[in-house]
Amino acid sequence: MAVSATKKPLLLLSLFFFVVAASAGNFYESFDITWGEGRAKILEDGQLLTCTLDKTSGSGFQSKKEYLYGKIDMKLKLVAGNSAGTVTAYYLSSKGATWDEIDFEFLGNLTGQPYTIHTNVFTGGKGDREMQFHLWFDPTADFHTYTVHWNPINIIFLVDGIPIRVFKNNEKSGVGFPTSQPMKIYSSLWEADDWATQGGRVKIDWSNAPFSASYRSFNDQSACSRTSNATWVACDANKDSWMWTSLNNHQYGQMKWVQDEFMIYNYCTDYKRFPQGLAKECNL
Ligand SMILES: *[C@@H]1O[C@H](CO)[C@@H](O)[C@H](O)[C@H]1NC(C)=O
Ligand SMILES: *[C@@H]1O[C@H](CO)[C@@H](O)[C@H](O)[C@H]1NC(C)=O
Repeated sequence: MAVSATKKPLLLLSLFFFVVAASAGNFYESFDITWGEGRAKILEDGQLLTCTLDKTSGSGFQSKKEYLYGKIDMKLKLVAGNSAGTVTAYYLSSKGATWDEIDFEFLGNLTGQPYTIHTNVFTGGKGDREMQFHLWFDPTADFHTYTVHWNPINIIFLVDGIPIRVFKNNEKSGVGFPTSQPMKIYSSLWEADDWATQGGRVKIDWSNAPFSASYRSFNDQSACSRTSNATWVACDANKDSWMWTSLNNHQYGQMKWVQDEFMIYNYCTDYKRFPQGLAKECNL
Protein backbone atom coordinates (compact mmCIF):
# COMPACT_ATOMS: atom_id res chain seq x y z
CA MET A 1 0.00 0.00 0.00
CA ALA A 2 2.61 2.51 1.09
CA VAL A 3 4.66 1.84 -2.04
CA SER A 4 1.90 2.43 -4.55
CA ALA A 5 0.72 5.53 -2.69
CA THR A 6 4.09 7.23 -3.20
CA LYS A 7 4.52 5.96 -6.74
CA LYS A 8 1.33 7.38 -8.13
CA PRO A 9 2.05 11.07 -7.59
CA LEU A 10 5.55 10.56 -8.99
CA LEU A 11 4.16 9.07 -12.14
CA LEU A 12 1.65 11.90 -12.49
CA LEU A 13 4.39 14.44 -11.99
CA SER A 14 6.57 12.97 -14.70
CA LEU A 15 3.64 12.80 -17.09
CA PHE A 16 2.98 16.46 -16.42
CA PHE A 17 6.55 17.41 -17.28
CA PHE A 18 6.43 15.35 -20.41
CA VAL A 19 3.33 17.19 -21.61
CA VAL A 20 4.82 20.60 -20.88
CA ALA A 21 8.10 19.79 -22.59
CA ALA A 22 6.40 18.33 -25.64
CA SER A 23 4.07 21.26 -26.18
CA ALA A 24 6.71 23.48 -27.80
CA GLY A 25 6.57 22.68 -31.46
CA ASN A 26 3.96 19.96 -31.30
CA PHE A 27 1.63 20.42 -34.23
CA TYR A 28 -1.21 18.42 -32.67
CA GLU A 29 -1.26 20.78 -29.71
CA SER A 30 -0.76 24.03 -31.58
CA PHE A 31 -2.74 23.68 -34.81
CA ASP A 32 -5.96 22.47 -36.38
CA ILE A 33 -6.05 21.26 -39.95
CA THR A 34 -8.85 23.24 -41.48
CA TRP A 35 -8.80 22.62 -45.21
CA GLY A 36 -8.07 19.98 -47.79
CA GLU A 37 -9.84 16.71 -46.82
CA GLY A 38 -6.77 14.82 -45.69
CA ARG A 39 -4.29 16.65 -47.93
CA ALA A 40 -2.67 18.25 -44.87
CA LYS A 41 -1.26 15.82 -42.33
CA ILE A 42 0.47 15.85 -38.98
CA LEU A 43 3.18 13.18 -38.80
CA GLU A 44 6.04 11.95 -36.59
CA ASP A 45 4.10 12.30 -33.31
CA GLY A 46 3.35 15.94 -34.03
CA GLN A 47 6.86 17.01 -35.08
CA LEU A 48 6.15 17.33 -38.81
CA LEU A 49 3.27 18.78 -40.77
CA THR A 50 2.81 18.52 -44.53
CA CYS A 51 0.41 20.29 -46.86
CA THR A 52 -0.26 19.00 -50.34
CA LEU A 53 -1.93 20.39 -53.42
CA ASP A 54 -3.42 18.47 -56.32
CA LYS A 55 -5.80 19.34 -59.13
CA THR A 56 -8.82 18.97 -56.85
CA SER A 57 -7.70 20.99 -53.83
CA GLY A 58 -4.98 22.57 -51.78
CA SER A 59 -4.80 22.27 -48.00
CA GLY A 60 -4.13 24.31 -44.91
CA PHE A 61 -4.15 24.69 -41.17
CA GLN A 62 -4.52 27.33 -38.46
CA SER A 63 -3.32 27.88 -34.92
CA LYS A 64 -5.50 27.07 -31.95
CA LYS A 65 -4.22 30.14 -30.14
CA GLU A 66 -4.54 33.80 -30.97
CA TYR A 67 -1.54 36.11 -30.54
CA LEU A 68 -1.16 39.73 -29.62
CA TYR A 69 2.58 40.27 -30.16
CA GLY A 70 5.13 37.53 -30.37
CA LYS A 71 8.36 36.28 -31.84
CA ILE A 72 7.13 33.25 -33.71
CA ASP A 73 9.35 30.81 -35.59
CA MET A 74 8.39 28.18 -38.12
CA LYS A 75 10.64 26.01 -40.25
CA LEU A 76 9.42 25.46 -43.78
CA LYS A 77 10.64 23.37 -46.67
CA LEU A 78 8.93 24.53 -49.84
CA VAL A 79 7.59 22.66 -52.85
CA ALA A 80 10.54 21.16 -54.75
CA GLY A 81 11.11 20.87 -58.49
CA ASN A 82 8.72 22.60 -60.84
CA SER A 83 6.58 24.52 -58.33
CA ALA A 84 5.46 27.25 -60.75
CA GLY A 85 1.93 28.47 -60.00
CA THR A 86 1.90 27.18 -56.42
CA VAL A 87 1.80 29.47 -53.41
CA THR A 88 2.62 28.55 -49.85
CA ALA A 89 1.10 31.20 -47.60
CA TYR A 90 2.19 31.57 -43.99
CA TYR A 91 0.66 34.51 -42.15
CA LEU A 92 -0.93 35.96 -39.05
CA SER A 93 -4.35 37.55 -39.34
CA SER A 94 -7.13 38.90 -37.17
CA LYS A 95 -10.80 38.78 -38.13
CA GLY A 96 -13.43 41.27 -39.30
CA ALA A 97 -13.65 43.97 -41.97
CA THR A 98 -10.84 46.05 -40.46
CA TRP A 99 -8.46 43.18 -39.89
CA ASP A 100 -4.70 43.31 -39.40
CA GLU A 101 -2.40 40.86 -41.12
CA ILE A 102 1.31 40.02 -41.35
CA ASP A 103 2.21 37.95 -44.41
CA PHE A 104 4.85 35.67 -45.73
CA GLU A 105 4.00 34.10 -49.08
CA PHE A 106 6.27 31.83 -51.06
CA LEU A 107 5.71 31.87 -54.81
CA GLY A 108 6.94 28.80 -56.65
CA ASN A 109 8.86 28.79 -59.89
CA LEU A 110 10.17 26.56 -62.67
CA THR A 111 12.91 24.10 -61.69
CA GLY A 112 16.14 26.00 -61.16
CA GLN A 113 14.44 29.41 -61.11
CA PRO A 114 14.34 31.29 -57.81
CA TYR A 115 11.41 31.23 -55.41
CA THR A 116 9.96 34.62 -54.56
CA ILE A 117 9.28 35.47 -50.94
CA HIS A 118 6.51 38.00 -50.69
CA THR A 119 5.80 40.05 -47.54
CA ASN A 120 2.96 42.40 -46.69
CA VAL A 121 1.39 44.17 -43.71
CA PHE A 122 -2.32 44.97 -43.48
CA THR A 123 -3.73 47.38 -40.92
CA GLY A 124 -7.43 48.13 -40.57
CA GLY A 125 -8.13 45.99 -43.64
CA LYS A 126 -5.67 47.86 -45.88
CA GLY A 127 -2.52 46.33 -47.33
CA ASP A 128 -0.64 47.46 -50.47
CA ARG A 129 2.67 47.26 -48.61
CA GLU A 130 4.37 44.50 -50.56
CA MET A 131 8.07 43.83 -50.51
CA GLN A 132 9.44 40.83 -52.40
CA PHE A 133 12.76 39.04 -52.28
CA HIS A 134 14.67 36.18 -53.78
CA LEU A 135 16.62 34.08 -51.29
CA TRP A 136 20.32 33.37 -50.82
CA PHE A 137 19.67 29.62 -50.66
CA ASP A 138 17.38 27.04 -52.21
CA PRO A 139 14.34 26.96 -49.88
CA THR A 140 13.20 23.62 -51.31
CA ALA A 141 16.38 21.71 -50.46
CA ASP A 142 16.04 21.96 -46.69
CA PHE A 143 14.11 23.45 -43.79
CA HIS A 144 14.74 27.13 -43.02
CA THR A 145 13.36 29.30 -40.22
CA TYR A 146 10.91 32.08 -41.03
CA THR A 147 10.16 34.41 -38.14
CA VAL A 148 7.55 37.06 -37.50
CA HIS A 149 8.78 39.25 -34.64
CA TRP A 150 5.88 41.54 -33.81
CA ASN A 151 6.00 43.90 -30.86
CA PRO A 152 4.71 47.43 -30.11
CA ILE A 153 7.80 49.00 -31.72
CA ASN A 154 7.99 47.16 -35.01
CA ILE A 155 7.31 44.06 -37.07
CA ILE A 156 10.52 42.33 -38.14
CA PHE A 157 10.50 39.64 -40.83
CA LEU A 158 13.47 37.29 -40.46
CA VAL A 159 14.82 34.38 -42.46
CA ASP A 160 17.22 32.11 -40.58
CA GLY A 161 17.59 34.90 -38.04
CA ILE A 162 18.51 37.51 -40.68
CA PRO A 163 16.14 40.47 -40.83
CA ILE A 164 14.84 41.09 -44.34
CA ARG A 165 12.23 43.76 -43.57
CA VAL A 166 11.09 46.02 -40.75
CA PHE A 167 7.70 47.70 -40.55
CA LYS A 168 7.92 50.34 -37.84
CA ASN A 169 5.16 51.55 -35.58
CA ASN A 170 4.53 55.03 -36.97
CA GLU A 171 1.12 55.48 -35.39
CA LYS A 172 2.25 58.90 -34.15
CA SER A 173 2.50 59.98 -37.78
CA GLY A 174 -0.89 58.51 -38.65
CA VAL A 175 0.32 55.19 -40.12
CA GLY A 176 -1.65 52.13 -39.05
CA PHE A 177 0.01 49.51 -36.88
CA PRO A 178 -1.47 46.33 -35.43
CA THR A 179 -1.74 46.94 -31.70
CA SER A 180 -5.04 45.57 -30.49
CA GLN A 181 -6.51 42.78 -32.62
CA PRO A 182 -5.30 39.28 -31.71
CA MET A 183 -4.24 37.19 -34.70
CA LYS A 184 -4.19 33.49 -35.48
CA ILE A 185 -1.50 31.86 -37.57
CA TYR A 186 -2.64 30.43 -40.88
CA SER A 187 -0.87 28.49 -43.56
CA SER A 188 -1.92 26.88 -46.79
CA LEU A 189 -0.61 25.49 -50.04
CA TRP A 190 -2.75 26.47 -52.98
CA GLU A 191 -2.94 27.15 -56.68
CA ALA A 192 -2.45 30.71 -57.91
CA ASP A 193 -1.19 30.29 -61.43
CA ASP A 194 -3.23 33.25 -62.64
CA TRP A 195 -0.71 35.61 -60.98
CA ALA A 196 1.97 33.92 -58.92
CA THR A 197 4.77 32.91 -61.25
CA GLN A 198 6.33 35.38 -63.64
CA GLY A 199 3.17 37.44 -63.51
CA GLY A 200 0.85 34.49 -64.32
CA ARG A 201 2.62 33.54 -67.55
CA VAL A 202 3.85 30.21 -66.19
CA LYS A 203 1.03 27.77 -65.36
CA ILE A 204 1.00 24.83 -62.98
CA ASP A 205 2.22 21.60 -64.49
CA TRP A 206 -0.19 19.12 -62.90
CA SER A 207 1.91 16.17 -64.02
CA ASN A 208 4.11 17.05 -61.01
CA ALA A 209 1.18 16.86 -58.54
CA PRO A 210 0.74 16.30 -55.70
CA PHE A 211 2.89 19.25 -54.63
CA SER A 212 4.04 19.25 -51.04
CA ALA A 213 5.36 21.74 -48.46
CA SER A 214 6.59 20.70 -45.00
CA TYR A 215 6.73 22.37 -41.59
CA ARG A 216 8.77 21.69 -38.46
CA SER A 217 10.00 23.27 -35.23
CA PHE A 218 7.17 25.67 -34.56
CA ASN A 219 8.13 27.93 -31.64
CA ASP A 220 5.75 30.40 -30.01
CA GLN A 221 7.37 30.50 -26.59
CA SER A 222 8.11 34.21 -26.87
CA ALA A 223 4.58 35.41 -27.44
CA CYS A 224 1.47 36.70 -25.73
CA SER A 225 -1.35 34.41 -26.66
CA ARG A 226 -4.76 33.29 -25.63
CA THR A 227 -6.36 29.90 -25.91
CA SER A 228 -9.89 31.28 -25.68
CA ASN A 229 -11.32 34.77 -25.70
CA ALA A 230 -11.10 34.88 -21.93
CA THR A 231 -7.84 33.04 -21.24
CA TRP A 232 -4.58 34.87 -21.87
CA VAL A 233 -1.41 32.86 -21.38
CA ALA A 234 1.20 34.62 -19.27
CA CYS A 235 3.97 36.02 -21.47
CA ASP A 236 7.44 37.24 -20.62
CA ALA A 237 7.28 40.84 -21.75
CA ASN A 238 9.69 42.56 -19.41
CA LYS A 239 11.76 45.47 -20.67
CA ASP A 240 14.69 43.37 -21.89
CA SER A 241 12.57 40.85 -23.72
CA TRP A 242 11.51 40.33 -27.33
CA MET A 243 8.59 42.64 -26.56
CA TRP A 244 10.80 45.75 -26.72
CA THR A 245 13.49 44.85 -29.27
CA SER A 246 14.24 46.59 -32.51
CA LEU A 247 17.20 46.03 -34.83
CA ASN A 248 20.73 46.72 -33.64
CA ASN A 249 23.38 48.12 -36.00
CA HIS A 250 24.68 44.70 -36.95
CA GLN A 251 21.16 43.60 -37.91
CA TYR A 252 20.63 46.79 -39.92
CA GLY A 253 23.76 45.85 -41.84
CA GLN A 254 22.40 42.37 -42.50
CA MET A 255 19.07 43.76 -43.66
CA LYS A 256 20.81 46.22 -45.96
CA TRP A 257 22.72 43.33 -47.53
CA VAL A 258 19.50 41.39 -48.14
CA GLN A 259 17.66 44.41 -49.52
CA ASP A 260 20.58 45.45 -51.77
CA GLU A 261 21.19 41.97 -53.12
CA PHE A 262 17.87 40.14 -53.06
CA MET A 263 14.95 42.56 -52.99
CA ILE A 264 13.00 42.45 -56.25
CA TYR A 265 10.00 44.63 -55.38
CA ASN A 266 9.39 47.48 -52.94
CA TYR A 267 6.05 49.31 -52.75
CA CYS A 268 7.95 52.33 -51.47
CA THR A 269 9.64 52.84 -54.84
CA ASP A 270 6.70 52.00 -57.12
CA TYR A 271 5.75 55.48 -58.33
CA LYS A 272 3.91 54.00 -61.31
CA ARG A 273 1.51 52.05 -59.13
CA PHE A 274 0.96 54.93 -56.72
CA PRO A 275 0.80 58.05 -58.92
CA GLN A 276 -1.08 59.88 -56.14
CA GLY A 277 1.98 59.45 -53.95
CA LEU A 278 3.67 56.72 -51.98
CA ALA A 279 2.39 55.52 -48.61
CA LYS A 280 3.21 57.89 -45.78
CA GLU A 281 5.61 55.46 -44.06
CA CYS A 282 7.78 55.42 -47.19
CA ASN A 283 8.91 58.98 -46.41
CA LEU A 284 9.48 58.59 -42.68
C1 LIG B 1 10.89 33.06 -61.23
O1 LIG B 1 12.06 33.17 -62.01
C2 LIG B 1 12.14 34.36 -62.78
C3 LIG B 1 13.36 34.26 -63.68
O2 LIG B 1 14.54 34.11 -62.92
C4 LIG B 1 12.18 35.56 -61.81
O3 LIG B 1 12.18 36.76 -62.57
C5 LIG B 1 10.95 35.53 -60.91
O4 LIG B 1 11.06 36.56 -59.93
C6 LIG B 1 10.87 34.19 -60.19
N1 LIG B 1 9.74 34.09 -59.28
C7 LIG B 1 8.45 34.17 -59.65
C8 LIG B 1 7.45 33.98 -58.57
O5 LIG B 1 8.08 34.39 -60.77
C1 LIG C 1 -12.88 34.47 -29.91
O1 LIG C 1 -14.21 34.65 -30.39
C2 LIG C 1 -14.32 34.74 -31.79
C3 LIG C 1 -15.78 35.08 -32.15
O2 LIG C 1 -16.66 34.16 -31.56
C4 LIG C 1 -13.83 33.44 -32.44
O3 LIG C 1 -13.90 33.53 -33.85
C5 LIG C 1 -12.37 33.22 -32.01
O4 LIG C 1 -11.90 31.99 -32.56
C6 LIG C 1 -12.26 33.20 -30.49
N1 LIG C 1 -10.86 33.11 -30.10
C7 LIG C 1 -10.31 32.04 -29.55
C8 LIG C 1 -8.86 32.10 -29.27
O5 LIG C 1 -10.95 31.07 -29.22
